Amino acid sequence: MLIKRSPSIQPSEITPESVYLRRREFLRAAGIAAGAIGSQATWARVLADSEQATGPRLPDVRPGPFSTEQAPNSWEDITTYNNFYEFGTAKEDPARYAGALVTRPWTVTVAGECDRPGSYAFEDLVRPHALEERVYRLRCVEAWSMVVPWVGVPLAEMLKRFEPNSQARYVRFRTLLDPGQMRGQRRRVLDWPYAEGLRMDEAMHPLTLMAVGIYGRELPNQNGAPLRLVVPWKYGFKSIKSIVSIEFVREQPRTSWELAAPHEYGFYANVNPQVDHPRWSQARERAIGAGLFAPKQPTLMFNGYADQVGDLYAGLDLRVNF
Ligand code: MTE
Repeated sequence: MLIKRSPSIQPSEITPESVYLRRREFLRAAGIAAGAIGSQATWARVLADSEQATGPRLPDVRPGPFSTEQAPNSWEDITTYNNFYEFGTAKEDPARYAGALVTRPWTVTVAGECDRPGSYAFEDLVRPHALEERVYRLRCVEAWSMVVPWVGVPLAEMLKRFEPNSQARYVRFRTLLDPGQMRGQRRRVLDWPYAEGLRMDEAMHPLTLMAVGIYGRELPNQNGAPLRLVVPWKYGFKSIKSIVSIEFVREQPRTSWELAAPHEYGFYANVNPQVDHPRWSQARERAIGAGLFAPKQPTLMFNGYADQVGDLYAGLDLRVNF
């Protein structure tokens, strides 16, 4: 995001037409009209069975609330066009290099203003919860977007188990720091480890998800295995990947992108078509997978989730708190 790119579309940003056509064929064969999917559960099951999705299947995934009616992007789009700077800054780098990340065993440290701090194994964090599928829109601050069928646990349910106390006003998340596995960390592109944060009410909002899968399968490494945040009304950089630390804090935490470029990336990072990035407009976005000649689509306030989250920001000047 800091790196200035030419405005022309990179070859790597274009979904090959063959992939797109295969998807259309597949949808027709499955009796599903692209663009308006009746049952997201059916959609995920059908696609998970398709030849595209790979990786271990997650058990007992049930449809969750808030899913968009829009058709999800293909497995290929979602797993080959990524931002995960720990593995490089090009969109294809995470798919190429994230295989080096060892995701089992995986431990998450919980600390700060809570009554149940400690080190939790990934399995112990997730096992007590029912897994839900949530098909969410994802809007990157770079003005492209996708639709992703996540599988995960409402973050609120997970956080409640740690019993945050009344001093907890924010939650800070950190990604693994290990330049041995994460080749991108050998260069100081960002202040590693990648750090993000949410206000407590944002973290506890029912839309906020701790994701462990896509298309009914375990998260591929390039998408943030084994667990990553998904905050669908905020720019994608808030959705921190491969989390190893959760900390309840009193003060607003500094995030990696804020530290790197405070005038460009704020703490809130709410999707907002009226507040442009200093170097580009946020009014429209390019839908990945829509095809080379598709017009850009209008960006929606709070990425289309204004009804659910607008109240969180009542009285806040969104130009100042961008
Ligand atoms: N998390 C970490 N640790 N490192 C990153 O570089 N990139 C962010 C976010 N989470 C990033 C990260 C950005 S800019 C986006 S748009 C999303 O991940 C992309 O998620 P995806 O690759 O699964 O689509």
